Parts: sequence; C-alpha cells; structure tokens
Amino acid sequence: MNILLNTKEDYKRWKDKKLESFTRNIDHLTVHISNPNSVSKPEKNKVISLLRSNNLAFFNIDNISYKDKSSIKRFAFQIGLGDYDFDSRSDDDGLTEIKEHKHNDKISEYIPYTTEELNWHTDGYYNTKDNSILSWLLFCNTQSEKGGVNKYLDHEISYILFNDVSNKIKDLMLENTCCIPENLMTKRKEVLNPVYMFDDENLHMKFSMRKKNIIWNDASLKAINILKSIIEDSSEYHITKKFAEGEGIITNNVIHKRTAFTNSKNKNRLLYRLRSKRRVIK
Ligand SMILES: [Fe+2]
Repeated sequence: MNILLNTKEDYKRWKDKKLESFTRNIDHLTVHISNPNSVSKPEKNKVISLLRSNNLAFFNIDNISYKDKSSIKRFAFQIGLGDYDFDSRSDDDGLTEIKEHKHNDKISEYIPYTTEELNWHTDGYYNTKDNSILSWLLFCNTQSEKGGVNKYLDHEISYILFNDVSNKIKDLMLENTCCIPENLMTKRKEVLNPVYMFDDENLHMKFSMRKKNIIWNDASLKAINILKSIIEDSSEYHITKKFAEGEGIITNNVIHKRTAFTNSKNKNRLLYRLRSKRRVIK
C-alpha cells in the first residue's frame, strides 16, 4: 500500500491487517509437503496464503527421498516460481548451491560462499529494476555443526515501522537512493535504485546493510540511517530459524540475514537457492 497515493484511512486499514497477521510462531508459518514432485491443492493454497499475509512460508519435506535438486525445482515450479536469475554458480535451471568455498577459490571472496555472517539484505539489491528478484526459495540439504541461523524481517513491516516514525518515505523512493558502483571485474555497470518501489500494488525492496561498494544519495542519508536502526532494532518482528535438513522457505524477497557458522566432517552446510523474477502471488 503506497502511503503517498492512498488515504490515511486506507493505509491504516492495510497496516492494521498486516500487523494482525504477523506471527513469529514457526509452526503457524510452516507447510508440510508430502511429495514435492506432486504438491496437493491444500498444500499449495497454504503456501500461497502465507506468502500473501506474511511474505514468507516455511516448508518441510518429511520424506528423505525427496531432497534432491530435481524435486526442489519441481516443487518451486508448482508453487509459481520461475524466470530465474542466473549467476556464474547456477546450474542450467538456475539453482545455486550455497556452501563454503575454500580460500583458494575465486568465489570465496563473496560472503554467501564463506562461513561468515551475512548481514541484512534483500536478494539482488544490485539488480536493475527490469531484473528484480521478486521471490526466492532456500532449501536445506545439509546443515552446519554450529551457527548458520537465518533471520527474516518482512520488508512490508520495515516500511510500516519507517512510516510510523518518519514522513520521509519519499527519500527512500528516489530513483537514485542507492548507487552500486560499476564492477570492473565482472564488467557490471553502475546501478541506481530506490530502496522501496511498487510493482503494481506490491512493495518491492532493494537493500543491503553493507558499507562497502554501496553509495547512498546525500538526500536519503538521514532516512536510510533511520531505516537501518529500525531493521536492527525491531527484534520483535524478526523471525529466527535454523533450518534442519529437509526444511526450506519461500519468500517474496523479504529482508534476511545469516549468522556465521562452523562446519564439521559430516555437517557441511549446503543450501539450494532459486531466485525468481516472478512474484509468487499477484
Ligand atoms: Fe540472500
């Protein structure tokens, strides 16, 4: 709900409904999937309904024989993900293995592929508007020995909390609120984006807490600092979960982070990721 284009009453109605649906109770946010290759109608409806109200849905595949990549891809397709964002680590279908790469590997420079903490961000904050990642799936094949806990914050709730304390939302919606400088190594050009933008009625967010290689517009600095504090301090809205093997999540690209982790001989954290340019629900 765009606060700038709607009446105060309509915005308040939307906000109240949104906050009423909020829960940190993982059981209420989880759908058990019997067979990811053939999702039942009630299973699919529950996933869609959770995405509509909370922008995320955890899922749990109980049967160990359905934890292969093809089953996860078929599951994602049935839920409505597709048009995947490819990167140099994706397979031919757009699935990426998120795991630790040892230091001699070039991609170990990227934090997602290390055991380090990954700070709050939305996926593809460096993508142009045409290539926005509107939803993504993570699935846990193997969990780490220690750490590797994920936290999530619904981006719509961050927007509500910001509007509660500031009337400067416009400063976060400028076309050049955020600048990701050109990357000479990958030859990616400079990218300018708002933090909050609307795609039809739906709120989309591009954000990273990182300090390097991100330049905030001077006009947006005050607002971005308020937003950063809100994200860090709104722990009552943080949803925390360490995946067990066979568990996963689909989100409408909410803000998320990951704590650092330690692997052991038999517990080498391996997640599957699909990043979709489609919103699961329209
Ligand atoms: Fe991410």
